[in-house]
Amino acid sequence: MASVLVIDDNETIREGVATVIARMGHKAFIAEDGATGMKLFKSRRVDFTITDLKMEGMDGIEVLKAILEKDEDAVVMLITAFGTVETAVDTMKLGAFDFVTKPFTPDVLKAKVNQALEVAKIKKERNRLRAENKILRKEAQAGADFASMVGSSPAMQEVFSTIKKVAKSDSTVLITGESGTGKELVARALHDQSRRHDGPFIKVNCGALAETLLESEMFGHEKGAFTGATRCKLGRFELADGGSIFLDEIGEITPTLQLKLLRVLQEQEFERVGGEETVSVDSRIIAATNENLEALVREGAFREDLYYRLHIVPVQLPPLRERPQDIGDLARHFLAKLADRTGKQLSGITDEALQLLQRYRWPGNVRELENVIEQAMVFSEGEILEDSDLPSNLGQKKVTTSILKQESDGSLRINLSSATLPEILDEVERTLIFNAYEQAGKVKTETARLLGVKTSALYYKLEKYEIE
Ligand SMILES: Nc1ncnc2c1ncn2[C@@H]1O[C@H](COP(=O)(O)OP(=O)(O)OP(=O)(O)O)[C@@H](O)[C@H]1O
Ligand SMILES: [Mg+2]
Repeated sequence: MASVLVIDDNETIREGVATVIARMGHKAFIAEDGATGMKLFKSRRVDFTITDLKMEGMDGIEVLKAILEKDEDAVVMLITAFGTVETAVDTMKLGAFDFVTKPFTPDVLKAKVNQALEVAKIKKERNRLRAENKILRKEAQAGADFASMVGSSPAMQEVFSTIKKVAKSDSTVLITGESGTGKELVARALHDQSRRHDGPFIKVNCGALAETLLESEMFGHEKGAFTGATRCKLGRFELADGGSIFLDEIGEITPTLQLKLLRVLQEQEFERVGGEETVSVDSRIIAATNENLEALVREGAFREDLYYRLHIVPVQLPPLRERPQDIGDLARHFLAKLADRTGKQLSGITDEALQLLQRYRWPGNVRELENVIEQAMVFSEGEILEDSDLPSNLGQKKVTTSILKQESDGSLRINLSSATLPEILDEVERTLIFNAYEQAGKVKTETARLLGVKTSALYYKLEKYEIE
């Protein structure tokens, strides 16, 4: 059902046109003069307008101009009297869609209304595609990928099973986890496995924009809502209609937007910025944050009611350091995934390299691991990824390979002929300190205790061997 605005000061014509439109199964709003018509146009969703040309006060041409001023894609038809055809043609140059000359039969009117509504639909669709396109292009540039998720740790297995269970529902999902743990990947997996997978997956980065920009990005704006708003723009909620919307970094949104979002969650409706018309949407909401939302609620920075609305299905992604058993799977997954990009086909990873990866703390989580693997692949010259390919900040011993080799059982093999006594002793000392330091979780007092040396001595050695 479409909405048609009918403006005519002649009651017989006005009611007649409205009746024809109602019989066609559409909704008609009627106005007896231009000013009332404009009020309706601004406050209602109007797909198409029919206005009389000659009226007291604001005439048809002024109405046409005012409407196009508000929405340059609006479809407007004029009703003209016999003998004013020339003026009617002029109105088309101004942007009117068509005109109909009095007297006209219901059939003529019907045909014109159908045509106009068809055009309105196409324009609306074009507008939607334009906005959607822009987003898709941006995402493609950002290198968004749809690669599958891997992880055999119990924690990740539980995440996968939760995704499977809730994907089919429309429940709101809140994904939490440190930066780089795979929150976006989970959001996409939820969408891909849902019944909405043919619909759009639209992302909003709530942390990247200032409040007013974010508001119009999320909810859209009417033409003229603020300087620079030259056409009505659909927001991401509208674009996500029939699909999913991913609100990333939800902890960053301001109180005003928290309130607006709460209403969307409760009623699935909102108003565009600068608009009065209520827009309703059908989109599944997936939110993510690397902040502690509960703490933000306690501090009063995040609305409690909104938190509970978002928290219907929580998915928590553990940091990578808490699931070292996933590191091998992930590393091999990235070797395959990055083969094209790096131009290297590596068949696997050595035990030494894997150990090094498993001992590191991964503050940047899976994203950091992916970067490290890519870097290592670029430097690699063999068929298999070795510890010497890995960047030195992982705690790898640069010169050791020629003097010392640490076996997987922890014993050291020393190549006695490769270096002088001080060099060998230094290397042994360096390795012992390095291992203890890692074992102690980089806590210096604990490292000193493990090694049986004074903390002050340890400080000196850590510096000497550039272990930090
Ligand atoms: N389990 C996994 N399997 C395969 N790849 C993964 C996995 N987890 C994360 N990744 C990869 O790690 C990178 C970071 O993941 P993602 O962008 O989803 O993290 P995030 O939690 O959204 O991070 P941020 O908080 O920084 O936005 C991506 O390239 C993603 O493909
Ligand atoms: Mg992310």
